[in-house]
Amino acid sequence: MKLLITGASGLYGSKLAQLALDRNIEVYSSDIQSLTVYGNFVKLDISGKEQVAEAFKTIKPDVVVHAATLTDVDKCETNKELAWKVNVEGTKNIADAARSTGSFLIYISTDYVFNGEKGRYKETDNPDPINYYGLTKLKAEEIVQTRPECFIARPSVIYGSTPAAGKVNFALWLIETLRKGARVKIVTDQWNTPTLNTNLAEMTLEVIERRLTGIYHLCGATRVSRLEFAEQIAETFDLNKGLIDSVLSSQFTWPAKRPMDSSLDTSKAQETLLNKPLKMDDALRQLKFELAQKST
Ligand SMILES: NC(=O)c1ccc[n+]([C@@H]2O[C@H](COP(=O)([O-])OP(=O)(O)OC[C@H]3O[C@@H](n4cnc5c(N)ncnc54)[C@H](OP(=O)(O)O)[C@@H]3O)[C@@H](O)[C@H]2O)c1
Repeated sequence: MKLLITGASGLYGSKLAQLALDRNIEVYSSDIQSLTVYGNFVKLDISGKEQVAEAFKTIKPDVVVHAATLTDVDKCETNKELAWKVNVEGTKNIADAARSTGSFLIYISTDYVFNGEKGRYKETDNPDPINYYGLTKLKAEEIVQTRPECFIARPSVIYGSTPAAGKVNFALWLIETLRKGARVKIVTDQWNTPTLNTNLAEMTLEVIERRLTGIYHLCGATRVSRLEFAEQIAETFDLNKGLIDSVLSSQFTWPAKRPMDSSLDTSKAQETLLNKPLKMDDALRQLKFELAQKST
């Protein structure tokens, strides 16, 4: 099977590529830059319709996992033109090309399609994004949904054991900062369901194998505030929780609004998948194991 991954230098895409290679899948890792590469690298700017069509014609992928996105929420707010071009038009280019090669398409969306007023969102709840990033991801979902054979995964706050796409994720940043003995300010009033990239990648591989379709909330199984998430990381890694100061999100000024509670209900995935969304303590144990393996 040929698997094409867009955004394959990223936090999620690089882990998916690694795990797919472990299963002897023929992996084509595409990204605008080649920071972390597993499998065959294909340099691809998804906003270029012709280069996308050409790449699909050459590779003829059986499956496409589309994760390339402008993920910087504030940049999307301040550079709406670029956000639309990459997140919406880029997705249209991928969906059109996937149609022409008859490839099974998986789109990686986000919890930010919801407004965050109620939390514990189910797949049947109505999206209502409150920032431009969320709006572009919802528009992209709508484009992907015009294809009958597609799957939409919605994760939430992805973290993992390796920096990717030139960025350190929240869990790694916190571990490094607390290890140095520095204080951190963490918000108490934003809730979500953090997702270990390995867990998301394993769930995706099952979706590929079973050719599941529809929208699924593929994220961690535990709803936490950002402060609770930070405290659980500190406990798992035996770090000093006393260095964590709690603050309200109103004390920060960001260009883009953040949903207060974008936590997702994972019952549909729990009932359907053999690889289930992990509870927070299991996911953090897995993260600890992966970090220990890296240092040996
Ligand atoms: N990270 C989270 O907390 C989170 C939460 C919910 C949902 N998601 C979704 O999960 C997916 C994966 O996220 P992630 O955290 O793995 O993202 P990531 O680490 O930022 O990786 C995304 C990759 O896409 C690349 N990209 C950007 N513009 C591109 C373009 N025009 N053509 C080709 N590639 C381009 C990025 O390159 P540059 O780095 O150079 O821009 C980056 O390597 C995304 O769809 C995201 O919306 C993420």
